[in-house]
Amino acid sequence: MKIISNPLELKKYLKSNSKIIGFVPTMGALHEGHISLFKEARQNNELLIVSIFVNPTQFLHGEDLDKYPKKEEADKKICSLSGVDILFFPHAQDIYTDDEISLQAPSQRGYILEGYSRPGHFNGVLTVVNKLFNIINPTNAYFGKKDAQQLHLISLMVKQLFMSVNIVEMDTMRESDGLALSSRNIYLSQDQRVEALKISSSLQVAFGMVNSGILDTKKIVKKMREKLNSLEIFYIEALSRDFKPLTSIIIGNSIILVEVKVGTTRLLDNIYL
Ligand code: PAF
Repeated sequence: MKIISNPLELKKYLKSNSKIIGFVPTMGALHEGHISLFKEARQNNELLIVSIFVNPTQFLHGEDLDKYPKKEEADKKICSLSGVDILFFPHAQDIYTDDEISLQAPSQRGYILEGYSRPGHFNGVLTVVNKLFNIINPTNAYFGKKDAQQLHLISLMVKQLFMSVNIVEMDTMRESDGLALSSRNIYLSQDQRVEALKISSSLQVAFGMVNSGILDTKKIVKKMREKLNSLEIFYIEALSRDFKPLTSIIIGNSIILVEVKVGTTRLLDNIYL
């Protein structure tokens, strides 16, 4: 595995490359969820590139960028064992200068849900993903459905900016008891972890209701609120897959998204219906 930190060096290295590139952008603290993306990308591309970059511009003032979990050595090992060809591991100064052009997330879909409680967060995400795509020029880029709003906005950016990368959407990986895998799970105490299971069970409640023919989103959200009532709820929303409000679930074109706080940890999850 080759490790490169300089964007121009990586661009130069890839210049003569005519291979099919699979790219998985990450912020490190790698877990099984990331590994499933690496596996899929490994199988379907000639060259597998992973980036590890804790992107400062997607953290708001007051959010503790320095506390983001870092596991550099373990992450390198995981990448190497997963058959990664190139690990792109830049520093902030390799990616940003002090006077930057940045992308703006769309004013509606970029400022609801996660974007409502973290205004500007998605500007940072889109800006860095755009930079990474420009450096790597991947054929396929892999993103998890757990961060459904991020995935939607990145797909929108690719479409609206006529980019040629193919976005591959990957299912959320879960522990056997249903908890969605997340780098933030390490912050949970044992008791908090038990509390956190209410998130996936609330989504199962929604799934059960829809299966039994209850499609009214108000009724579904109410039942989910009851299930999550011991937690601080940021949002529970039923939206169409292009992130527009829905009064009734449309099978095959709906998503229910949840974000709660367990202890001091924000956790998100969703179900595509
Ligand atoms: O989901 C993440 O890990 C990050 O938001 C991403 C896509 C790597 C951009 O920094």
